[in-house]
Amino acid sequence: MKKNRFNRLKKKFRYYDDSIDLEERVDILLSELRLKEKFRLLSGLNFSWWTTKPIRRLKIKRLGMTDGPIGVASHSSHFKKNTEFPCSKCLSSTWNRTLAYEYGLAIAKEVRDVGRHVLLGPGINIDRTPLNGRTFEYLSEDPYLTQEMAIPYVQGVQSQRIGACIKHYAANNQETNRFYVNVNVDERTLNEIYLKAYKGVVEKADPWVFMSCYNKINGTHGCENKELLRDTLMDKWGFNGFVVTDWFATRRISEPVKSLLAGLSLEMPLTLIYKLRFLKKAFKEGKFSEDDLNYVIRRLLRVMFLVGLFDSSDKVPKGERNTPEHQMLAKKIAEESIVLLKNDNNLLPLDINKVRKIAVLGPNAKKKMGKVLYGGAAAVHPPYEITPLQGLEEKSEGRIELINDPSSADVCIMFLGLNHSIGNDCENYDRKNLELPKKQIQLIKETVKKNPNVIVVLKNGSSIAMDEWIDLVPALVEAWYPGLEGGRAIANVLFGNVNPSGKLPITFPKKLSDSPAHKSHRTYPGDENVYYEEGLFVGYRHFDNEKIEPLFPFGFGLSYTSFEYSNCKLNGKMLTPEEELTISLEIKNTGEREGSEIVQMYLSDDECSVERPPKELRNFAKVNLQPGEKKVLSFKLTINDLTFYDINTHNWKYEPGIFTILIGSSSRNIHFEQKIELRE
Ligand code: BGC
Repeated sequence: MKKNRFNRLKKKFRYYDDSIDLEERVDILLSELRLKEKFRLLSGLNFSWWTTKPIRRLKIKRLGMTDGPIGVASHSSHFKKNTEFPCSKCLSSTWNRTLAYEYGLAIAKEVRDVGRHVLLGPGINIDRTPLNGRTFEYLSEDPYLTQEMAIPYVQGVQSQRIGACIKHYAANNQETNRFYVNVNVDERTLNEIYLKAYKGVVEKADPWVFMSCYNKINGTHGCENKELLRDTLMDKWGFNGFVVTDWFATRRISEPVKSLLAGLSLEMPLTLIYKLRFLKKAFKEGKFSEDDLNYVIRRLLRVMFLVGLFDSSDKVPKGERNTPEHQMLAKKIAEESIVLLKNDNNLLPLDINKVRKIAVLGPNAKKKMGKVLYGGAAAVHPPYEITPLQGLEEKSEGRIELINDPSSADVCIMFLGLNHSIGNDCENYDRKNLELPKKQIQLIKETVKKNPNVIVVLKNGSSIAMDEWIDLVPALVEAWYPGLEGGRAIANVLFGNVNPSGKLPITFPKKLSDSPAHKSHRTYPGDENVYYEEGLFVGYRHFDNEKIEPLFPFGFGLSYTSFEYSNCKLNGKMLTPEEELTISLEIKNTGEREGSEIVQMYLSDDECSVERPPKELRNFAKVNLQPGEKKVLSFKLTINDLTFYDINTHNWKYEPGIFTILIGSSSRNIHFEQKIELRE
């Protein structure tokens, strides 16, 4: 806002004075609002879809939102073209907290530049089934990894005075029947698996907005669920922001008072339940008080101040979009996220001086993934997108012939996977099965007959079964949806300019029935009801518990170099609730290339009065090493790493006893085990 205008407003309305403390400014504004105006603020501006209603009398501007989390969506930014960042699965495959911060910061600048104030992301639902059409938008099957990537992301976003909106709270783990399915989940599972990352993000990153889900949780829709919103999110965890509905979620409910008392501040995108006449009537009948109303309005106003709606422009960080810096960041994230899954006889990396002819095949070689609404709300329409084929063309600089015929090529690169069409990684629709489309499998089989040197590069956002073809191909690369610079990132990895260092944030099962949610129709997709009968045993927790060999385990990824783990030490054997322990180890790059390794620390409870998963991720570190270089890494262990959720006290609890710390390069490749004892 221009200085002169701002000064005029400041004279007239005290809450425009940015030298006053935030909470006081909120109080002043709240005291100015008439009852009717408060009611008005409770729902979005009809037919705008993305903003709150303005209150002209008090110069309250509209709070603008835009879809995310993988860039500023075109459909919510007046059809602008914006940086298409790599999808959330890319980000979590980097296991790089610093990159998550930079990612959030860059997106926030783009949000500001399109004139919005809240980014509708990150989505932090847990990957319960690989069929979920929105898996590419979420981070992981593991609550700890999810939380660790989401915290810096939110901090990055909010460093720019843009609100991060954490979605979709909670237990929104499938798209089939997403508007009404009632998730039946027990209290411990809900807290240990499905709520844990939300709690961690609230406690460590103080997000300004939460989006409630469409589905019901144990009988009540997300947007009227007092237990989840007011009691847990606000009272227990100390969330200070406001809750917004998912778009049109209130279509399924009829009781505005219930939502209001549950803590819902904003109904989007327009007025359905928070209608003036409903609210007036209920207020007159004493169904809620002005204090109840103030409770939700205050939260909304507070965020309006935080994002700078009442500040002069020099107090608000500047926005920018489509800058070379954002594009380079997108490339870096894509490069770090690529997971090398198989590399027989070191077929990769390709030597640019030796390879003369490459057959480039498969439907994703030329396919662009960034289009308006393509894949759903998270879609971003970028100013350009480098396809895998373009990436190869650029890399080869005319020195390598790119052809279609496998039989006359030195090597074949097949770009396969999914493509965001309905049922293939797309909001509102789950996938129908875990396999690649039949035509692609056929293409693999035909190609290997003509040339055995086949490298499959997958673009997709969720796991894929490969039993039918994995043994036929010597090399396999998971590239996810790598954003607008994806083609270059892939080429850099294929030719060894970048050494792959991504690790899987989800388990790849051999077949769907191995997956924990797929025991029966009741457990997935259900009808009106779905039952989370597998309890805590989601993702690798299930594969470990049932001793099922996955196709690729959680935390797995290869490199062009090798790492040696040694000298694992504990600084003590005893942990008490007050004292922490440190575990350290050495890690050495024993190969010939620079590379990064993701070292993972899991924990297992040797004996406990309740059943616990065989192991759970508790920490990780990514370390970059030159050839021959060695570094010492250490992890701290505190009482919080040892607790479980106790349904008798409805709280986290520890039990004295023996625990095992496991240090690994994946959830299935454990290098060290160390026992510790927890004493009172
Ligand atoms: C999606 C949300 C999205 C919203 C606005 C809903 O259908 O579930 O993730 O933010 O629409 O587009």
